[in-house]
Amino acid sequence: MRRILVTGGAGFIGSNFVRMVLSEHPDCFVVNVDKLTYAGNLENLQGFLDRPNHVFVKGDICDGPMIEAIIDEHQVEAIINFAAESHVDRSITGPKIFIETNVTGTLTLLEAARDKKLERFIQVSTDEVYGSLGPEGKFTEQTPLSPNSPYSASKAAADHLVKAFGHTWGLQYNITRCSNNYGPYQFPEKLIPLMINNAINDKELPVYGDGLYVRDWLYAYDHCTAIWQVLEKAPSGEIYNIGGCNERANLDVVNLILDRLGKPKSLIKHVTDRPGHDRRYAIDASKIMRDLDWRPSVSFEEGIGKTIDWYLQNEKWLASVVSGDYQKYYDSMYLNR
Ligand code: NAD
Ligand code: TYD
Repeated sequence: MRRILVTGGAGFIGSNFVRMVLSEHPDCFVVNVDKLTYAGNLENLQGFLDRPNHVFVKGDICDGPMIEAIIDEHQVEAIINFAAESHVDRSITGPKIFIETNVTGTLTLLEAARDKKLERFIQVSTDEVYGSLGPEGKFTEQTPLSPNSPYSASKAAADHLVKAFGHTWGLQYNITRCSNNYGPYQFPEKLIPLMINNAINDKELPVYGDGLYVRDWLYAYDHCTAIWQVLEKAPSGEIYNIGGCNERANLDVVNLILDRLGKPKSLIKHVTDRPGHDRRYAIDASKIMRDLDWRPSVSFEEGIGKTIDWYLQNEKWLASVVSGDYQKYYDSMYLNR
């Protein structure tokens, strides 16, 4: 039996990963540590919380003694670090917590992994550490890191720390750098769920600037299968880009959502741009495809269809995550934009 510590497993991608592992790899034992910030939600784990091979612990990855105690108690062999502050816009209005969680939190986990001599540390990173592309080319694993936002700078710092622990203390590690994820259970602060939620409710869809910014879209489930392949097969020290082979301009994504929901284009509202907005991300994922035999399972059109259906069928979940503080966040970000 594999015994893994998943951090951030009540968030969007982490909960998709925990659900996938518990469903498809029942011989794997998962300890799930999550601080339950605004982005963490136990409802993301409904039906899975009480599985015999799953333990949930509410805790902060900056708490070293707690992490070490969990590793000992559950005989953890590997850490997969999803926990992070993950939203670029929030990093612009309040960068400090991004340094605490993404840098100090990762450092704390690395020290525990080193001291407890774990078999593997997998850092879930982002293509945003590479910076921004012009109209041509893609990020490869050799692209120099050149982060532009406080969020991506904090993730790049964490990547450097992971490599430094490998180099200095022989920590066995991998780093994965994926493109923009979408799918069920994503908090409606990111582009796709925010636009779906607004369109469902006939609210304006706030498109930053000219809307011609380009992202590569990766269905979260496909991201999770890629990470599983890394855990199973990757040699230590390797970095893998993970992408969906689905480059789209934001306006095209928003138009597709409106078409699928049968809503008018007049809901689109161009608003003031994000400061320092990265123009284009594109991923060359040939390494993980070639070396670990991974492929995305859905096209963007299929994935967005499944995602919209999920939000339509999970109105209660959506209503509960947009209650309370969400409205305050939304107003502060969009009201006078
Ligand atoms: P998310 O914001 O939905 O979830 C983050 C989770 O981490 C939440 O459950 C939160 O409660 C938890 N958390 C935050 N601070 C913590 C702390 N100090 N201790 C313990 N738990 C804490 O994020 P996500 O979209 O699921 O992203 C997961 C990972 O993937 C992140 O590392 C992110 O940088 C990376 N990533 C995300 C995307 C994307 O498109 N969402 C793209 C590339 C990389
Ligand atoms: P986002 O989902 O925040 O991911 P990231 O900034 O990490 O790529 O944003 C995706 C793209 O959508 C990005 O170009 C910013 C843009 N965007 C909007 O135009 N309007 C919005 O309300 C949001 C949240 C994002």
